Amino acid sequence: MEQTQTKRIVLGITGGIAAYKAAELARLLVKQGISVQVAMTEAACHFITPATMQALTGRPVLVDQWDAADNGMAHIAASRVAEAIVIAPATADFIAKLAHGLADDLLSTMCLARDCPLLVAPAMNKQMWANAATQRNVRQLIADGVQVLGPDSGVQACGEEGMGRMLEAEQLVKDIMDFLRNGKSAGTVSPIPDISVRAHEKEPSQPQTRKLSGKKILITAGPTYEAIDTVRGITNRSSGKMGYAIAQAALEMGAQVTLISGPTAITKPQGAQAVDVQSAAQMFDAVKQHLAGCDIFISVAAVADYRVAHPSAQKIKKGSGNLTLELEPNPDILAYVANLPNPPFCVGFAAESENLAEYAEQKRRAKKLPLLVGNLVQQAIGSDDNELVLFDDSGRQTLPRADKLTLARLLMQRIAQRKKGALQ
Ligand code: C5P
Repeated sequence: MEQTQTKRIVLGITGGIAAYKAAELARLLVKQGISVQVAMTEAACHFITPATMQALTGRPVLVDQWDAADNGMAHIAASRVAEAIVIAPATADFIAKLAHGLADDLLSTMCLARDCPLLVAPAMNKQMWANAATQRNVRQLIADGVQVLGPDSGVQACGEEGMGRMLEAEQLVKDIMDFLRNGKSAGTVSPIPDISVRAHEKEPSQPQTRKLSGKKILITAGPTYEAIDTVRGITNRSSGKMGYAIAQAALEMGAQVTLISGPTAITKPQGAQAVDVQSAAQMFDAVKQHLAGCDIFISVAAVADYRVAHPSAQKIKKGSGNLTLELEPNPDILAYVANLPNPPFCVGFAAESENLAEYAEQKRRAKKLPLLVGNLVQQAIGSDDNELVLFDDSGRQTLPRADKLTLARLLMQRIAQRKKGALQ
């Protein structure tokens, strides 16, 4: 008889040669005491039979969306009692479906109708993995909060060698068990760099390692909002995208992330401890509150330099004459942290509209930062892409134009390299 505390997962198998590894994965999960409900696409049944999966899991396999099981509602019922859906292997085609919300068979409908987390383990030929469409789709899944496990690089079924092999069953079990324990996967997420950036930057092609495992990272992001009265305020143009992408990249590398954010309209990365604030003063308080034990502080927020000295408790009525507002300076949060007796490794951002190198380097020295990341406001604000210039004691280095998550991953790798000795 099944115990009530037994963890359940849905194991979705899609049609790739790595489907044979799903048998071992199911066997190992069952061995860990997990109740595994297998759902297969029709294509998957060409690679491995439902009978095999049923024998390994002790449960009938779901394949046909027109099956009368669960009153024809298997696509709803299965995920309602599951802790997570794990798609292994996830083909390029299935990833594309997930990214676009298609639901034309039982498994894709189940994913769309789920109320539980989704983990996917991609498996495909290296060119399919490197294809811009797949890269775009995987980025979309990550942005949607899906955990992407792998892929790995190595010899492929087709005889070619490269990125796209599904992770081995043992590794997937480890990641899934970590996920079930901690709510996020232990992480064997591969880097998803823009190919041109990768060629230029000579990024390693092996899977992203958890170089920041156990490290505590505090990130500020988004704008601050300084009230003038109950309905009006002063703010900076900032979407929060760069800061959130950095939080996502740090999570992928195993860090414990606290994300202190001003008002934005975007979704926070899953797994970060989120703290919402409005004003610079509130952001300053939140930073001080979460600073203890922090290894790295990354200040991406566009903090308003000034606040209204006397905000009105009532809506200010329109008059015919000029209105003068008295502004007073906000505290410089980053300068405060960087100048503490034992500061964490501090990274600042500078958005400039001109003379980027000169102003950024000036700011780095003034705030005593080991690393400052500069970008041009014309290229950065609100955009999905950006170009970053890193300033440190050894000079400057450009991370060429790419989407913000790719840049965030490259930046976090640089930061982890810089801190390797000190953080270990
Ligand atoms: O506004 P400024 O260009 O000086 O910002 C440079 C860096 O300082 C950014 O990383 C920003 O997040 C941080 N900053 C801050 N508090 C302020 C102003 C800026 O933490 N009041």
